[in-house]
Amino acid sequence: MILLKTCVEVQNYITEQKKQNKTIGLVPTMGYFHQGHLSLMEKAVRQCDKVVTSIYVNPLQFGPREDLASYPRDLERDLGLAKGAGVDVIFAPTDSEMYPQGFNTTVSVGEELTDKLCGSKRPGHFTGVSTVVTKLLNIVKPHKAYFGQKDAQQLLVIKRVVADLNMDTEIVAVPTVREQDGLAMSSRNTYLTPEQRAAATVLYQSLQMAKGAVKEGRRRVPEICQMVADQIKKEPLAKLDYVELYSYPHLKSIDEITGPALLAVAAFFGKARLIDNIILEA
Ligand code: PAF
Repeated sequence: MILLKTCVEVQNYITEQKKQNKTIGLVPTMGYFHQGHLSLMEKAVRQCDKVVTSIYVNPLQFGPREDLASYPRDLERDLGLAKGAGVDVIFAPTDSEMYPQGFNTTVSVGEELTDKLCGSKRPGHFTGVSTVVTKLLNIVKPHKAYFGQKDAQQLLVIKRVVADLNMDTEIVAVPTVREQDGLAMSSRNTYLTPEQRAAATVLYQSLQMAKGAVKEGRRRVPEICQMVADQIKKEPLAKLDYVELYSYPHLKSIDEITGPALLAVAAFFGKARLIDNIILEA
């Protein structure tokens, strides 16, 4: 496995591999790997000849009062884990490499996908994500790029960018990886105290409760959202940010579940803002 820090080095590597007809997979990450990241890399390794994993904590997708400065970082540990997963290249650029002086272009997806869920709670977040992912896709030009279903809205936004800008990359969705008690894996779980960590399972439990209710025939969206919100609010260490339910994958507002629907939640546990989601089927 090699570590590259500049766009030109990556571009030269990819040119060389493509001359040899190798297929390329890209796994964009912000590092501090957990099993969720490793499942993206393992899938990429199974499906592609050469896999590039980017590690870049992208300042453009953090709001002014968010956790950019404290976001966990450990490049040495990440290098070992990526190597173990069979990754060929780590691309770990600096801020000035990604956003050199004069940088002045952003990619922003329309409101239909971005004015709700995390998009409404984190203004500018998805423009930051879309911009950095567009850059990474243009630098690596992968055949396939891998993203976790845990960030369901991000996945839909990126699929939109790739379709709208005619990018020649297949976006591969990978299921959420969970701890034994259901908590979705996240680098931000490291912020949790043991008490908050125990409390955080309420997110998964409330989603499962909603799934059970839908199975029993409950279809009314306000009722299901209220049930999930009540469950989360019962947990004293949780501060609910949102519970929302939309048609999937178009994220249209609905009153009743009649087809696939995305139920998504976000809550603070201390300074950790955690998200989770589930796809419900009528
Ligand atoms: O999901 C993430 O870790 C980030 O949003 C991504 C896709 C790497 C872009 O910075």
